[in-house]
Amino acid sequence: MTQDEAKALVGERAAALVEDGMAVGLGTGTTSVMFIKALGARVQGGLSVRCVASSDASDKLARSLGIDMRTLAELPELDLYIDGADEIAAGLALIKGGGGALLREKIVASAAKSFIVVADATKLVAHLGKFPLPVEVIQMALPLVERKLDALGLRPTLRLHKDGSLYLTDEGNVILDCACEPITDPARTAADIRAVVGVVEHGLFLGMASLALIAGEDGVAEHRA
Ligand code: A5P
Repeated sequence: MTQDEAKALVGERAAALVEDGMAVGLGTGTTSVMFIKALGARVQGGLSVRCVASSDASDKLARSLGIDMRTLAELPELDLYIDGADEIAAGLALIKGGGGALLREKIVASAAKSFIVVADATKLVAHLGKFPLPVEVIQMALPLVERKLDALGLRPTLRLHKDGSLYLTDEGNVILDCACEPITDPARTAADIRAVVGVVEHGLFLGMASLALIAGEDGVAEHRA
């Protein structure tokens, strides 16, 4: 099975969990695209759901498929949030934000009764941190935050587009990708980063997901927190 086939498989499996009348949060990234497309197909087949997206890109895709998209103000309580992850460790501790949507992803996830992660098996890790940890930062605070994260040993690098221009999130902030492998104590790292003034959010999602659907050679396996 290719990685794309694995993503399509979990996307479809996650879409099958959505029930008529549910309020659903839509994640961001290539696996979430597969889920949104599968959900769109179910909506076209008559499923009634209202959704909130975690990025402009996911919102646009979902609308193009005829999904009823709302704001968090209209739909502050969600039944489900379904999203991918960059790394998944024990207890469903996650690194997210490779696609730059970590802030809105964490906000939408926090509005949901249940957060289900969808991923292919390459995302499972023994310890978090090989994937650079994204930290979203207010632009004005960048020099200060960069120095402080560096002092914490987190080796931050400013995210740029391939053409060298500054990467900006949907909220107009910048991202520092931190090469902090290994993260031996994720809760401590999360607290250290959160304590830096000017940091808006970080990509450690701890204690948030309750179930992960992981696609591998043997099909889809369920991992619980
Ligand atoms: C988006 O900001 C991320 O958190 C994604 O959910 C994460 O990077 C997983 O993306 P893929 O499904 O594309 O691997």
